Amino acid sequence: MNASNRQMTLRRYPEGMPQESDFQVISGAIPDIADGQVLGRAIYLTVDPYIRVHISPSMSIGYAPTTPLGAPIPGEAVLRVERSKHPDFREGDYVAGFSGWQDYAALQGDALRKVDKRLAPLSAHLGALGMPGLTAYAGMTKLSEAEAGQTVFVSAALGGVGAVAGQLARIKGCRAVGVSSSAEKCSYAVETLGYDACLDRTKQDFAEQVAAACPNGIDVNFENAGGPVFWTAMQNMNAYGRVIVCGLIAVYNEDAPPAGPDLSQDLLRAIALKRLVVKGLMVADFWSLRPQFLEEVGGMIKDGRLHSKEHIVVGIENAGVAMMEMLSGRNFGKTVVRIADD
Ligand SMILES: NC(=O)c1ccc[n+]([C@@H]2O[C@H](COP(=O)([O-])OP(=O)(O)OC[C@H]3O[C@@H](n4cnc5c(N)ncnc54)[C@H](OP(=O)(O)O)[C@@H]3O)[C@@H](O)[C@H]2O)c1
Repeated sequence: MNASNRQMTLRRYPEGMPQESDFQVISGAIPDIADGQVLGRAIYLTVDPYIRVHISPSMSIGYAPTTPLGAPIPGEAVLRVERSKHPDFREGDYVAGFSGWQDYAALQGDALRKVDKRLAPLSAHLGALGMPGLTAYAGMTKLSEAEAGQTVFVSAALGGVGAVAGQLARIKGCRAVGVSSSAEKCSYAVETLGYDACLDRTKQDFAEQVAAACPNGIDVNFENAGGPVFWTAMQNMNAYGRVIVCGLIAVYNEDAPPAGPDLSQDLLRAIALKRLVVKGLMVADFWSLRPQFLEEVGGMIKDGRLHSKEHIVVGIENAGVAMMEMLSGRNFGKTVVRIADD
């Protein structure tokens, strides 16, 4: 066991895109555990977009209160149980829990979920088999009403949520059209994840690409991005289409609303004219789906129908850089940080 507990903290709150200098690793004590708790040693830390919300006072919202400066950055991890005072866990078990970006945490056993290494590598339990995968599964199975032959449009198509949403659409027999930010990522999306098409949002002709890839329009927009990608999708929606509002990563680094005209009337007009159904998605409403999700999506991973890819950054000192990579699309798959051997 390490003599100290490394913690990745904030030196100051980022303005716009986080900078490496906003983050600082400090050393704390390894915590004691009380009855009902386990001591977990983190192996993989998650780097999820919601963490950006936690580290900005201007974005503080109910489910993501602002992290104090000097405190470990919050987030889920896959951990090995080092000691246990909870009857359901033993030393050597693997669990997932909200330990924050640090080596060791004292965690309430009742808030942990066991991680089954036989289903997929540990890192996948923060991605395709973790919260992002469950988000995609909930959106596709409970909200989208997608039917075989319909077109499902997925922004951030290779990420933790998008890769699972797109693959579930493809497995259902839909036309899956993804959006990413480079030729290399788009090739992977088509050749490995099985998207029917993947479009590069950084190209000038993005709008033409969308129209050409969706000749029959879009029936389901699985919206992970917001911003220009969202507006382009809206222009191609079919009547009675569904817009699943999962995330708005395009604006997470913005401290103020975008300059320019108020587009809310245009948005409402498009919803009315096309009779669109707009559904907000919060994964917290769907925790009870987890057993069914693990069985179904875990089975798809095991039999090779669904691919899980993590963008693995090594070292807790690089967790801030990993976040910058994820926010700017320089990740290739679901971003995780490995801070110990499994
Ligand atoms: N509602 C919920 O309960 C819930 C739960 C989990 C996640 N989410 C949301 O789902 C979305 C995806 O999360 P994730 O964990 O799967 O992240 P991710 O896709 O693994 O990583 C973020 C991706 O966003 C894309 N991106 C970055 N800036 C963008 C921009 N300006 N415009 C368009 N795309 C941009 C990049 O992909 P490319 O470079 O490949 O385009 C980047 O790789 C986020 O908005 C997140 O907040 C919501």
